[in-house]
Amino acid sequence: MTEEMRHPFLEGLSRHRGAPPTIIVIFGASGDLTRRKLVPSFYNLDSDNLLPTDCLLIGCGRKPLSDKQFRQFAREAVVEHSRRSPSEDGWNRLEGKIFYHTGGYDDPDTYQGLKSKIEQLERQNSTHYHILFYISTPPAVFKPILENLGSSGLSRTIGPHGNYAKVIVEKPFGHDLASARELNRIITKEFEEKQVYRIDHYLGKETVQDLLVQRFANSIFEPVWNRRFVDCVQITVAEDLGVGSRAGYYDQSGALRDMIQNHTMQLLALTAMEPPVSLDAEAIRDEKVKVLKAIQPLTLNAEGSDAVRGQFTEGIVDGRKVTSYMQAPGVPNSSFTETYAALRLFINNWRWQGVPFYLRSGKRMARKMSEISVHFKRPPGVLFTEADKFDVAANTMVLRIQPDEGVMLLLNSKIPGLETRTQPVKMHFRYATTFGSNTPEAYERLLLDAMTGDATLFIRGDETETSWKIMTPILEYWNECGKRGLETYFAGSWGPLAAERLLWDYGHQWRRAGP
Ligand code: BG6
Repeated sequence: MTEEMRHPFLEGLSRHRGAPPTIIVIFGASGDLTRRKLVPSFYNLDSDNLLPTDCLLIGCGRKPLSDKQFRQFAREAVVEHSRRSPSEDGWNRLEGKIFYHTGGYDDPDTYQGLKSKIEQLERQNSTHYHILFYISTPPAVFKPILENLGSSGLSRTIGPHGNYAKVIVEKPFGHDLASARELNRIITKEFEEKQVYRIDHYLGKETVQDLLVQRFANSIFEPVWNRRFVDCVQITVAEDLGVGSRAGYYDQSGALRDMIQNHTMQLLALTAMEPPVSLDAEAIRDEKVKVLKAIQPLTLNAEGSDAVRGQFTEGIVDGRKVTSYMQAPGVPNSSFTETYAALRLFINNWRWQGVPFYLRSGKRMARKMSEISVHFKRPPGVLFTEADKFDVAANTMVLRIQPDEGVMLLLNSKIPGLETRTQPVKMHFRYATTFGSNTPEAYERLLLDAMTGDATLFIRGDETETSWKIMTPILEYWNECGKRGLETYFAGSWGPLAAERLLWDYGHQWRRAGP
């Protein structure tokens, strides 16, 4: 058996082999996500023998393509983006399982045609398929797709053969509280909640799933995971890239909607939630909602807001000169969209009252790096107090989400020698060293979970609404202010100075993460 086959994560995944016969229908089939993530995930799952034997993929989109052309598109996607190097055998096995259906998203005929195609495949293969719809289109067409799935009967609930339809909805899930509520209303009119999978790809990352394991499979952390021992918690989701060709989307969105409302808030919820009663999807999601509900409304005013936003100017990233956000193709001159956002949040519950949670995310920052750091209180200043001899740091636990995935504990240690001197040292667990580096992509895990009906790593309707409830006043306030209060930061830096001040108010500073 090769090293890759023995990979413990894959062993973990193999329990999913019971996924029922499924047809995955991707709306937005010629889009970027399909090319970069979905088709390569389909390929990798198949190569790992994790797909059910009867698993087909139908791409659906406005672009008129034949099955042959879409297969070519898929093949290129695999060659360019697959985690595994593509093999001729692997591709030959998969090719015949891929189809395409052309149609406008608001045209009822598209769905009738799709239905006939599915029925034809069912007859041809004598199989009753579960249908997994994946909505990966611009949000403007979510509504017609969902409504047409309902009116065409494709949103079928459990049928005589036990097969039924499920739907994965990509982000952005609404752009504020009202639109998220409206989207939930439309979805739950056409589907039952148990058929719905709202995706946040951060939950599919190994290290994010490991957060629950670190917290609840080790008994040493729980006793100190609270306001008595924790001084502050910091969550950073930094990217070195700019907006590329996505300015059309991004300028309407900004960092708060694009990253904080979903990915960063999910990291916060998993870090701060109470232990769930089981690992069931509902038990975990109940706890996440509870902790999100306990977040206090933010203070928002010109004097001392809990929220800071910034936009990058030109600078140097990775030794290369890069232009400002305003110069990115497609950004309007009047734009005051934030490419960076930082928040200071307080969770008003028994465990966390008074402990600041600092969140930040931005484009064109010094480098790509996501981590959660839990900063513990300093020991009483009684023994190791002479500054010239004793360098005593606050203990910190760092959960590195990406890259260099792992867990680090910062401790204080004696420097060897005849004199007693101290220095902070790091204890490091690295995934790549222990488990190898070829771990499954987030989308592989999430596709498989949706096929098997496991919603644990997906967002429930009330969860997304609770998060939007926290974000919406910030968005409204920033909108009122326009450019006033929009900070700038050099591309390649760690964000605007004002974001440092968020922490200084409480005697903290952002962790300076090593490479
Ligand atoms: C997406 C955002 O949800 O996450 C992008 O829309 C961002 O703007 C991406 O670049 C980051 O994901 P990852 O997995 O590369 O950290």
